[in-house]
Amino acid sequence: MAGMDTGAGAKREVSLPNGEDVPALGLGTWRYGESASSADAEVAALRLALEIGYRVFDSAEMYGAGGAETVLGRALAPALRGGLARDRLFVVSKVLPENASTAGVLAACERSLRRLQLERIDLYLLHWRGGVPLKDTVEGFEILQRRGWIRHWGVSNFDLDDMRELQACPGGAACSTNQVWYSLGERGPEFELLPWQRLHQIPLMAYSPIDQGELVDHPALHSVAQRHAATPAQVALAWVLAQPGVMAIPKAVHGVHLRHNCQAASLQLAAADHAELDRAFAPPSRKRPLAMR
Ligand SMILES: NC(=O)c1ccc[n+]([C@@H]2O[C@H](COP(=O)([O-])OP(=O)(O)OC[C@H]3O[C@@H](n4cnc5c(N)ncnc54)[C@H](OP(=O)(O)O)[C@@H]3O)[C@@H](O)[C@H]2O)c1
Repeated sequence: MAGMDTGAGAKREVSLPNGEDVPALGLGTWRYGESASSADAEVAALRLALEIGYRVFDSAEMYGAGGAETVLGRALAPALRGGLARDRLFVVSKVLPENASTAGVLAACERSLRRLQLERIDLYLLHWRGGVPLKDTVEGFEILQRRGWIRHWGVSNFDLDDMRELQACPGGAACSTNQVWYSLGERGPEFELLPWQRLHQIPLMAYSPIDQGELVDHPALHSVAQRHAATPAQVALAWVLAQPGVMAIPKAVHGVHLRHNCQAASLQLAAADHAELDRAFAPPSRKRPLAMR
């Protein structure tokens, strides 16, 4: 493929607010761990991902009701025993809003750590905003940091109003990431949220970057893909990864998808490609409510 590496294409990095650099490409695990019959194949996919060079893994207590964290733990544990340095991994998980009270966050994190077979989570997110006051959740995150159970915390599905409210909470300015739906098909965050996050040096972690597979055969991506001897999915992903301050966590379980997505992190789109994609997927001209899956 023209202009691509074949290895852990995740050469691009994004800086967290504390200056730590994290690979811009990670692997999502929604739909993992939902069935005992597919668990072994999923562990194998995650081991392949580690071999290929993925270092960022996104999970949540919600996915498979803990099953995704369990299969991720089953893949990570032997790699760590086999010599993979823990600080080369960046494991993300999320607490459900109904568990996001100060005490609830501590209990949920302990359960997640057990399933992940880890002593700490690198980035722990509030999955979406619920009824618990933000300051209580932040207090829980701070306790977890003091205990060494998490390194960073952040949020997910927060629009600009929520981010501003969070910043005004005691300790809220320490938020490290906001994970939202961002893709060629869902460019809403570009209008206000993404510029604001850039200003505050809070990376945006793009979920569903290939629109849950909807972009894999999108006709508007074919000619750009052809020019790069790439697939439409790779173009969709390369476009997200080309946005400054943005990480992406495509989910894949098929080996060929895992490899293609790694390669896409090295695909350099030209100005003409961006112009063509802008014509097909227009940037937002006004504020839209944040889309959620
Ligand atoms: N915070 C939140 O509220 C939230 C919401 C949604 C998602 N997420 C996170 O974001 C991750 C990614 O989002 P997503 O799972 O919704 O959707 P996605 O990553 O946009 O799409 C996943 C789908 O695309 C397929 N695919 C992946 N790479 C491909 C490739 N190179 N070519 C062709 N098809 C490819 C996958 O197939 P296979 O699996 O069959 O390989 C899967 O069916 C999730 O797994 C989760 O970790 C977070």
